[in-house]
Amino acid sequence: MKKLLALVLTGVLGVSVLTACGSSSSAPSAAAETASTEVAAASTETETASASGSALDKDTLIIGTNAAFPPFEYAGDDGTPAGFDVDLINAIGEKLGKKVEVKDMEFDSLVASIGNKIDIAIAGMTVTEERQKMVDFSDPYYEAVQNVIVVNGSEIASADDLKNKKIGVQLGTTGDFIASDIEGSEVSQYNKAVDAVNDLLNGRVDCVIIDANPAQEFVSQHAEELTALEGTQFGFETENYAIAMPKGDAALVEAVNQALKELKEDGTFDKLVAENITGE
Ligand code: ARG
Repeated sequence: MKKLLALVLTGVLGVSVLTACGSSSSAPSAAAETASTEVAAASTETETASASGSALDKDTLIIGTNAAFPPFEYAGDDGTPAGFDVDLINAIGEKLGKKVEVKDMEFDSLVASIGNKIDIAIAGMTVTEERQKMVDFSDPYYEAVQNVIVVNGSEIASADDLKNKKIGVQLGTTGDFIASDIEGSEVSQYNKAVDAVNDLLNGRVDCVIIDANPAQEFVSQHAEELTALEGTQFGFETENYAIAMPKGDAALVEAVNQALKELKEDGTFDKLVAENITGE
């Protein structure tokens, strides 16, 4: 009986998560096909997960992030990770009655570490089809788009202008994937986005492609020299941030989504957005 309920829940969750991501896809029919395949896959894997236990069986959840992505995560005053995502996962942990331990890691190693070194990743991580093959995502919690950081007076202003350019990105991010797809681009991948920004200041790259909020934070520290250009100007699509969890741990996904929903309903989520992102 319990198992049946779990399977039904998995189905429902699979559909809701995928519908949410599907909305940003430009090919609705392809997205629908993926949805049905993935729901089927998730149902089979639930059985594996319930046999081997859920991360929810633990008292402490190990969380991975990459604390170099303000305002979502950065090194706080005491050097430990702080920011919107850290506050959010702490609030979720409280709702679940779990302790959370947040570890700072390289962004590019987060997805592969889920289910072994860490239980959950929260890192301003965009839901992508590639990542969905390896992990399950919560409901999306934040909408984002890539920006293009340039030096003031740069001639870069449209998608065409990005061709054959030297582009700085953080390794393994959606900015990296976009840059690599641009015709003739020469992409420099950094472990930390701030190093890409420094190389832009040094003239080693022509621009940096990175998510809007961190782009604005980095630019505000060098307002005399840098500008962040809106991604829509370059035809970049909207992205959705979500929390990544082991594939098939339906109980965990369900609990995290429920906590997220409650935090939205009770105003905590908006309070954290105001405190960390939009400013009171
Ligand atoms: N949203 C982008 C992605 O998912 C970049 C995220 C980078 N996050 C970080 N904490 N460094 O690829």
